[in-house]
Amino acid sequence: MAKTYDYLFKLLLIGDSGVGKTCILFRFSEDAFNTTFISTIGIDFKIRTIELDGKKIKLQIWDTAGQERFRTITTAYYRGAMGIMLVYDVTNEKSFDNIKNWIRNIEEHATNDVEKMILGNKCDIQDRRQVSRERGEQLAIEYNIKFMETSAKSSLNVEEAFFKLAKDIKTKTEKKLESTNQPKGGYHLKANEPPKKPSKCLFYFYFL
Ligand code: GTP
Ligand code: MG
Repeated sequence: MAKTYDYLFKLLLIGDSGVGKTCILFRFSEDAFNTTFISTIGIDFKIRTIELDGKKIKLQIWDTAGQERFRTITTAYYRGAMGIMLVYDVTNEKSFDNIKNWIRNIEEHATNDVEKMILGNKCDIQDRRQVSRERGEQLAIEYNIKFMETSAKSSLNVEEAFFKLAKDIKTKTEKKLESTNQPKGGYHLKANEPPKKPSKCLFYFYFL
């Protein structure tokens, strides 16, 4: 069967509960927004194929639960990620302070060269803002990580963030391919295997 894409990139969204990870992904995959908060149970994923420099890139984006009780399940997904979005909420100081802990989690559980980006979400809310854009930028500089402020509600920078992360992974992948002299477009991370979601039983087990 003919392949419908040139590259498959696995991305991961992490950050405190309620910062807007699911909404960011919903905006990117369906171009829609929901004001009702339905906290993610465990982990889920969505797919969107984008085009970059004439290449079709299939993005398999994993959306993790921010709640502490799902941490064992969600950290198991760090290893396969090629790019990670670290999300905080600009109206929630605590979620910003916790970015340092999320970075530590990445250092512990992800591969060394994973591409990272920090997102300060909900920047459409101005009256309840607790974290300035400058503080976000400063933190990103400190850790040498890319940074953007986003709004899943107004859709500001959502496309831009995913495209930027995908572009950087593509550049890195192609550099690696060149150095190992493999044919371009032939690099897939388990490309033919359907992604696996954990079974419902697993979640019941965690609730017990
Ligand atoms: P967990 O699944 O528990 O980890 O939370 P989450 O990070 O996935 O949060 P979710 O996307 O479910 O959003 C939480 C709440 O914030 C919802 O009520 C959303 O409507 C709201 N929200 C998310 N993004 C934005 C945004 O950009 N602007 C505004 N104003 N509200 C947002
Ligand atoms: Mg969620």
